[in-house]
Parts: sequence; C-alpha cells; structure tokens
Amino acid sequence: AYVIGLPCVDVKDRSCIDECPVDCIYEGRRALYIHPDECVDCGACEPVCPVDAIYFEDDVPAEWGGDHAASNAAFFTG
Ligand code: SF4
Ligand code: F3S
Repeated sequence: AYVIGLPCVDVKDRSCIDECPVDCIYEGRRALYIHPDECVDCGACEPVCPVDAIYFEDDVPAEWGGDHAASNAAFFTG
C-alpha cells in the first residue's frame, strides 16, 4: 500500500483524495491517511501531493521511521 507521512500534517492539501479511484484516503485529525487494506497500489495519488507526503510503503524515507503501512491510520486519527 501507499502511505501518507509527516509532511501532510497540518497541511492537508487534499489533492490526493481527488485522484484515488477506490476512495481509500481518509481525513484524520492532523493529516490524511491511506487505509492499507483498501489501497490498490495504483500510484495515482503520489505525484499530486505538493509536499511529497506520499510514498509506496517500501520507499518511505527512513527518517519517518517504523511500519507506516500498519500504523499510520492509528497515528493520524489518534
Ligand atoms: Fe488510492 Fe491509488 Fe493512492 Fe492507493 S495508490 S491511496 S489506491 S490513489
Ligand atoms: Fe496531505 Fe498531500 Fe494529500 S498534503 S492531503 S497527502 S495531497
């Protein structure tokens, strides 16, 4: 799955929502998040984010840390 990381926090541009064919991008408290079981890995959301917050799960920058695919939903909605 693709994941949305820290650059989205308090930015929430929302351009990614319009691109997702399966509507698996949800609004969290401070950022948006991608539901890892619903994402079909189409990649459409990744290039439209103005702050480069979206990455494929295996390409997430190391400085973001941890298993984002499993944890981002809980983190951002918490
Ligand atoms: Fe939606 Fe495709 Fe982005 Fe997954 S990769 S969140 S399916 S637009
Ligand atoms: Fe966030 Fe980028 Fe989408 S800032 S809302 S991941 S377009």
